[in-house]
Parts: sequence; structure tokens; C-alpha cells
Amino acid sequence: MLASVFVTGHQDETRAAYDEVVELYASMFADRLEAQPFSRNMIGTFAELVRNTGNLRAADVGCGPGHLTAMLHELGLDACGFDLSPAMVDHARRAHPALRFDEARTEALPVKDGALGGVLAHYSMIHTPPGELPALLAEQVRVLAPGGLLLVSFFGTDGPEPVRFDHKVTPAYSWPVDRFAELLAGAGLVPFARLLHDPASERGFLDAHVLARLA
Ligand SMILES: C[S@@+](CC[C@H](N)C(=O)[O-])C[C@H]1O[C@@H](n2cnc3c(N)ncnc32)[C@H](O)[C@@H]1O
Repeated sequence: MLASVFVTGHQDETRAAYDEVVELYASMFADRLEAQPFSRNMIGTFAELVRNTGNLRAADVGCGPGHLTAMLHELGLDACGFDLSPAMVDHARRAHPALRFDEARTEALPVKDGALGGVLAHYSMIHTPPGELPALLAEQVRVLAPGGLLLVSFFGTDGPEPVRFDHKVTPAYSWPVDRFAELLAGAGLVPFARLLHDPASERGFLDAHVLARLA
């Protein structure tokens, strides 16, 4: 009982925090993909690799306002978006009425085992406490088909341990990229490509994108 209270705690906080800032967040990020060339190109590569698997089904987990779900759709994937914030899901549905968005936690996706060719997690695992990431990654492994792709983008740091910081919306963690790759490998994924670049923001962390494949 205590354990479940602990597990849902940060998610309730994250949900409430994003529900509060939907319109501001969407105005800052949803139409600005041209200002994020590294993300755009990694997502393009991810979509191409997913198409090559022959399984076009993909989930954008922690989709926020849905703009990257729409990008995956434009890139030829059968994409849907999940987010734990009802207000974000509402916004995404209104912005992209032809696409499917559902309220769901990345920890418990309403998706059958092995159904997806790809999962995109663009800065949506950043709020998950480090101790809970293995379970979160195990859920992505559950929904991926063999050979399926996971693209995770997050804040990278040089130090040996993840660092908790005061993200503008709600607390978040930056990760040593090698440590994150080890977690992916521990979950049964094969991390095979990474892109690190200087930050677009003033926070000073690297922006990190890691592509992994389910063996
Ligand atoms: C920084 S925003 C990123 C949104 C979008 N992926 C983007 O790149 O613009 C983080 C999003 O992840 C969602 N999120 C965080 N933790 C989540 C979880 N455990 N399950 C589902 N959604 C989550 C938040 O509600 C928020 O919409």
C-alpha cells in the first residue's frame, strides 16, 4: 500500500504541473520544431528505421501537445499519442483531430504486448525518478515488437550520477548518457546510436538522443 502511494506520487505531481501549463507549453514548443533541428533529424531517422521494420505502429509517449505525434504521422507512421495530463491530451486532440490521443501513463500503456514498431519518448522520461526508470523501460520493451525501435531524448550530464534539478514545470533529472544507455541495455534493448549536442536552453545540460532496438 505504501509502495503504491510512493509510486503514484511523482506522477500526480507531474500531471498537475503539466495540466497547469498546457497553453504556455504548446505556444513555446508545439510550433517550433524548425528550431529543434537535432530532434527533428533524429525523429526522422527513427521513423525511417521503424518503417523499415514493416510495422508502422508507433506511440509517442508523454506526447504533450501532440506535435511530434503529428510529425510521426507525416513521416508515414501509424502514430498515436499518450500522456498522463488530461489537459495535454485534450489540447492534442483539438490540435490534431485526425490522430488518436489517450490519457495513459508511460508506466502502463494501453497497448498489447509486442504491438509496436516504435516508441518515441521525447523529454517525457525526464521527470521519472531514477529508481523507477527500469520499470518504465520494461514497459516499453513489453509493447515493442522484436526489432522495434525506441528513441529517447533527455538532458545529458557529465557526472557519474543522475542529477535532480528544478525544471520549469516540475522537478526533473539529467542523466550521464552512458548510465542511461546501460539502463536501456539492462531492459533488453540494444542502444546503437546517440547524438549529443550543446543545449538549446540556458540550463547548461547537453541534449541527448539515444536510439535503441529490441533484439
Ligand atoms: C517536457 S514535456 C514533453 C512533451 C513532448 N514530448 C515534447 O517533446 O514537446 C513532458 C510530457 O511528458 C508527460 N509525462 C511525464 N511523465 C509521464 C508519465 N509517466 N506518463 C505519461 N506522460 C508523462 C507530461 O505530462 C508532459 O506532457
